Amino acid sequence: MYKKHYSRFLAARPDLLHCAPHSHYYWPDITREAQLRYWDDSALYADEKWGYLFSEKVPAVQQGIARILNVSNHEQIVFAPNTHELLYRAISTFDYGRPLAILTTDAEFHSFNRQSRRLKERGNVKLVRIATEPFATFAERWRDAVASHSWDMIFISQVFYNSGVAAPLPNEWLAGVQNDDCLIMVDGYHGFAAVPTDWSAYTDRVFYLAGAYKYGQAGEGCCFAVVPLKHAYRPEYTGWFADFASLAKSQAGPVEYTANGMAMAGATIDLSALYRFESVLNWWQQEQLTPQRIHDYIRNLQVAFLGRLDELNDQRVNRHTLLENGLNRHGHFFTFRWGSAEAVAELAQQLRSGGIATDYRNDRLRFGFALYHNAEDYQRISFD
Ligand SMILES: Cc1ncc(COP(=O)(O)O)c(C=O)c1O
Repeated sequence: MYKKHYSRFLAARPDLLHCAPHSHYYWPDITREAQLRYWDDSALYADEKWGYLFSEKVPAVQQGIARILNVSNHEQIVFAPNTHELLYRAISTFDYGRPLAILTTDAEFHSFNRQSRRLKERGNVKLVRIATEPFATFAERWRDAVASHSWDMIFISQVFYNSGVAAPLPNEWLAGVQNDDCLIMVDGYHGFAAVPTDWSAYTDRVFYLAGAYKYGQAGEGCCFAVVPLKHAYRPEYTGWFADFASLAKSQAGPVEYTANGMAMAGATIDLSALYRFESVLNWWQQEQLTPQRIHDYIRNLQVAFLGRLDELNDQRVNRHTLLENGLNRHGHFFTFRWGSAEAVAELAQQLRSGGIATDYRNDRLRFGFALYHNAEDYQRISFD
């Protein structure tokens, strides 16, 4: 139904059923013209480019993101090339070297997992990771852990990257946070523009991190944070974009920060990804492709896919080896776990030879669903 919008990526890789959009979504055709427009605008505006980008393009994409998340103040949104930069900038709001108590889960993506384990090596950082399994009891165990201590930082995904299972949203645990200065972040990378998300109740208190590489379909370079404005953050890892208004003033004395999301900004950045993402946002608006409609389309694909698995009756990939905790709020990929990492890698390789692209993480095989799939496509899947 939507394949025609992805004709270039589909034609570049004919005969491949791409079931790894959760890793890297194909880019719709309109993003190509957007990329060229960036070049043309760079020529047209040259020295005035940054003024144009920050007065026209940045607000347009901020507003598009704000619309998707139901955030009323788009100026709370700040961009960065990747989410790691934003999360480390937030961590640098703590006085350097002070003891920290951090609460997280055992299913966070490498950016935070690696960074937090490295922080722990300082010796005065306590890192508590709550096991996400069993999923059925996670919400309760997480709520208890949140309320059990005066944490300096709480970090949790919206949808776990290694299962597709949706985590409890802050309304289920935020009330238990003991201290007002706790830094709270939700990694929305697998939720944004996939699972319908109303962030309006949390904009004051919780950072939301995401990027357009996956369900935003705009490739790398357009990550963002919705920055809560309850506290005036002063990250130590700061770039000059964090205070545009003062650039003409004498640069001496205490460092000042813009009183909106830009306080968390870095420095010179390639904004061509914003052009690509803006074109996707415009396309969605024209087609009225809201996250809810996209999610409904993907849910139908997931049902068709499970039907195909029932027909195939495979011992490895089936409803019993699927990791889930209720499929209505599940992310846009399925994860199957069985046997060993070697067995999973072998099956992924075999599928790839048969024209089905998936990906795997250790002993988990992931199948993702995209707007450029039709339900009939899954008839191509075979495990023989
Ligand atoms: C849950 C999650 N967070 C973040 C990222 C990307 O992190 P970064 O922007 O730091 O490269 C990914 C990428 O796959 C992810 O799955």
